[in-house]
Amino acid sequence: MSETSTLAETAQKSLADFIPADAIAAIDVCVAKYPADRKRSAIMSGLMIAQEHNNNYLPEELMDAVAEYLEISHIAAYEVATFYTMYNLEPVGEHVINVCTNISCMLRGSKEIVETLTKRLNVKLGETTEDNKITLREVECQGACAGAPMCEIDKTFHENLTPEKIESIVDGILSKQARSNKGEA
Ligand code: FES
Repeated sequence: MSETSTLAETAQKSLADFIPADAIAAIDVCVAKYPADRKRSAIMSGLMIAQEHNNNYLPEELMDAVAEYLEISHIAAYEVATFYTMYNLEPVGEHVINVCTNISCMLRGSKEIVETLTKRLNVKLGETTEDNKITLREVECQGACAGAPMCEIDKTFHENLTPEKIESIVDGILSKQARSNKGEA
């Protein structure tokens, strides 16, 4: 067995300590989209898939395992993960609300949206509710300025927000959660 294949097997074993085989297979699908000597091109997808299979959280050890699996340096994975806010480098709640406070959203009322959310959830920006249901974060421009003010919740954009609209969205999330906790549809 060649040294390269041994290293690849070791890296796979390390990644398998964190995420299931079907998640590793999904990373392999991403890797296959690029030339064989460009595995690193799959780093964004690899980190996202890993995060999704680890309670939406990317600890350093998991980033290392993805980096090794893609045969790149640990620091190369950290550079990507720390640049984009979609990667969660700290544990988060079951739902994540990312409120854009960049210029267009700020001019269109993001301050009121943040105030409504911090009051409704009883958390500050960057915090998670006591019951671990919702993490509230502030993010930079999400490229949806035409719909400012906006936020992203669990990968869905909510645009043209008003305090009433965001309150109703949060109420919807919490009541859906309460129903599912009770085993209702
Ligand atoms: S400034 Fe908020 S989406 Fe662009």
